[in-house]
Amino acid sequence: MQIKKVNEELKYIEKIKEMNINKSPKYHILTMGCQLNENDSEKISGMLNEAGYSKTEKIEEADLIIFNTCCVRENAEERLFGKLGEVKKYKEEKGTIIAIGGCMMQEKHITNKIKESYKFVDIVFGTHTLEQFPKDLYESIKEKKKIEDIIDIDGIVYEGVPVYREDKIKASVTIMNGCNNFCTYCIVPYVRGRERSRNPQDIINEVQELAKEGYKEITLLGQNVNSYLVSQKEKGEDVNFKVKIDENLLEQSGEEKSEIIVNSFATLLLALNKIKGIERIRFISPHPKDFTDDVIEAIKNSKKVCKQIHLPLQSGSTKILKAMNRKYTKEEYLKLAEKIKKEIPEITFSTDIIVGFPGETEEDFEDTLDVVRKVDFEQVFMFIYSRRVGTVADKMENQILEEIKHERFEKLKNQVESRMQAQNKNYVGKEVEILVEGKSKNNDKMLTGRTISNKIVNFEGTDDLIGKVIKIKIISEHQWYLKGNIIGN
Ligand code: SAH
Ligand code: SF4
Ligand code: F3S
Repeated sequence: MQIKKVNEELKYIEKIKEMNINKSPKYHILTMGCQLNENDSEKISGMLNEAGYSKTEKIEEADLIIFNTCCVRENAEERLFGKLGEVKKYKEEKGTIIAIGGCMMQEKHITNKIKESYKFVDIVFGTHTLEQFPKDLYESIKEKKKIEDIIDIDGIVYEGVPVYREDKIKASVTIMNGCNNFCTYCIVPYVRGRERSRNPQDIINEVQELAKEGYKEITLLGQNVNSYLVSQKEKGEDVNFKVKIDENLLEQSGEEKSEIIVNSFATLLLALNKIKGIERIRFISPHPKDFTDDVIEAIKNSKKVCKQIHLPLQSGSTKILKAMNRKYTKEEYLKLAEKIKKEIPEITFSTDIIVGFPGETEEDFEDTLDVVRKVDFEQVFMFIYSRRVGTVADKMENQILEEIKHERFEKLKNQVESRMQAQNKNYVGKEVEILVEGKSKNNDKMLTGRTISNKIVNFEGTDDLIGKVIKIKIISEHQWYLKGNIIGN
């Protein structure tokens, strides 16, 4: 894997900074996609902050507006074009620079539409040229020209892009990019390219920096985290990386070694578990087909890895799973969930489900409801199947009527919500451990945190508890959160 340290690219940050001397320009960024997309926005923010920009939540006062797009489902397009209509006036009134980046910009029919119908857009950049954003911005300002910076080559991992994170307790760390799975409904492999993993030492260094800055929780990100390093391995590259953990940041348990080998997702988890200061490690998303026993063992044996797994199901019907190219059957999924539960009894699951995939019959949908009942997920992210140009499923002839998709969605939603209510009731009276994240959004007299299973818990407490893991007794349940009292820390 070619790892490239950004250097040349960052020189443009200095050039923009010089241009901005005695000015205090502001940028507004709208993140429209998943957590990977969010982490990309943090990198754009990191570069802009260093170039002398400051962030504003008020779009009307921005000198630079950036849309970081997603295209996984249809509504994302409507949203972007709606937003573009809104910001045109800022361009006309005060020459605001408009930039669009992210996954949707890797789709030719979209960039063509922008060129034709939204001529006021200044910069269009894709997912493989993020680190070039300072150069694009510099040239757009200096030479007042339109920039299109999109490539399809995706073989490089960039290191050294500054990251600006607003949250000071929880941080996301991208460990790999791209996807090789080509699930037939999904656009991601087309817009994010093939799988490429960062080197373990670079990930460890980033997490060590986060630990030094006081971060308590990290979420490892990738489209398919449990195939970390796999595609490199398949290409015949040596992936036995000897990594080193800083002696000062090494958990002292008597037998910890600072030098270890990382050659898989499981060994990466074990290594990160040794970094002092980090209290919780999460990851999204693993793929059920790659959930090997060593990963289960690593979760079990790593104290900091949350005993909560997001295990995307997509459908409970073996026939639909095959048509989706998911590479597991209903029975294999159930068996995997059972095996994990047996090894780690306190585990909880969350999942993603699509309803209305082409050819889905009532019987197939019943299979989905059946798996939802059997696994008893704590959280279910539900989606109505959305046709994506260029995917295999888009060309299937047996598309499902919109009203049937909606009916099934409502049915699934009702089942999930009533089950969630029952689960929340079970929490009442229990003691749970939460990481305190900050003040509650709706009531600043209350603090808020999350359980290991990711449930939101609100409680009364003092600000010095923020960033600490404390014990709470749950006293009541509400639709979206639990309420509790402190019992000690
Ligand atoms: N790589 C992850 C998730 C990628 S996208 C995984 O494999 O689980 C996040 C979720 O969006 C997917 O899990 C899927 O449930 C949903 N999704 C993706 N494409 C979709 C489409 N065309 N229509 C509806 N939902 C979709
Ligand atoms: Fe899309 Fe499937 Fe890849 Fe996830 S694993 S990003 S759903 S193709
Ligand atoms: Fe994420 Fe959407 Fe791209 S889900 S990877 S931002 S298409």
